[in-house]
Amino acid sequence: MLILGIESSCDETAAAVVEDGRRLLSSVVASQVDIHHRFGGVVPELASRKHIEAVSPVVQEALATAGITREALDAVAVTQGPGLVGSLLVGYSFAKALAFGLDIPWVGVNHLEGHILSVFLEDDPPPFPFCALLASGGHTAIYHVTGYTAIERMGQTRDDAAGEAYDKVAKVLGLGYPGGKVIDDLAHQGDPSRIPFKRPFLDRNGFDFSFSGIKSAVHRMVQKQPEEMTSRMKDVAAGFQEAVVEVLTFKLMHAVREKNCRHAVVAGGVAANRRLRESVRQAGREQGVAVHIPGLELCGDNAAMIAAAGYHYLQEGRRGKLDDDVYSRVPL
Ligand code: KG4
Ligand code: ZN
Repeated sequence: MLILGIESSCDETAAAVVEDGRRLLSSVVASQVDIHHRFGGVVPELASRKHIEAVSPVVQEALATAGITREALDAVAVTQGPGLVGSLLVGYSFAKALAFGLDIPWVGVNHLEGHILSVFLEDDPPPFPFCALLASGGHTAIYHVTGYTAIERMGQTRDDAAGEAYDKVAKVLGLGYPGGKVIDDLAHQGDPSRIPFKRPFLDRNGFDFSFSGIKSAVHRMVQKQPEEMTSRMKDVAAGFQEAVVEVLTFKLMHAVREKNCRHAVVAGGVAANRRLRESVRQAGREQGVAVHIPGLELCGDNAAMIAAAGYHYLQEGRRGKLDDDVYSRVPL
């Protein structure tokens, strides 16, 4: 079954062709980072307009790279939410119209489920059940996953998402937007023990997170000692990153023990973080847990994960209806 995936929930317009929810034939991502960079964050109105310009060429490119015409498609899967409503509407309307025109089924996919299922596009996917840490710019949560669409949330952030904390710290340090990759690179040159940060929620039972305090701590340091902090940026980045990574790793491993799982998954934009990948893999080795993290191109927003998740929705008999709408928030 050949599925075209379309993703436009935030600032990436993406399309992909995936066979049977497993085999990736193409994945195209058109990023708007350059446009939003100078505003220090995503400007929703600009994002929607850019999606309108990009969606058709991106879909064409995905089909061409996969070596197929649209008539070969069996279904279309598209992100329905959560995300920016104006952005979502562009991909969603396009997908609906395309599927209607081709007279094939289509299905709206939850973006967060897409992230979690992205790992099934890799060669060695986990068997069920497993625990998954989803850390992105908009969400940070831990899930117990017992089937492709049987996903139960165990805990989540009470305030900022992990990626959001990276982005805000980068902004405070004058490093631009988005901040994840820049802080990741900078942290590797610094010493995480020179400027220690409190590990938020590490001592609390349960699986919730909180990242706004640590972001504010960096903000206060920079306000108090701007010169000192600018000259010690690498150590600030390293200290901040170490605290975030330690909490994410600890909670994921705690969930794995609680649910008696043998497999753990890390997904979402922050899963691209080198220190997080290393830390979770090491914890997995120590605790006899197999760790699965998608390749870098599948961590950030992409449409392959939407096509993969859509395949399983369709297998369950779910179908989009013409009067369905997008949603900005959803309690997965
Ligand atoms: O999943 P994603 O592409 O979009 C959302 O659904 O939010 O995640 C984007 C987030 C941004 O906050 C970005 O700064 C963060 O992922 N990110 C990283 C890294 N690469 C991207 N955070 C830490 N380290 C990275 N290497
Ligand atoms: Zn995402």
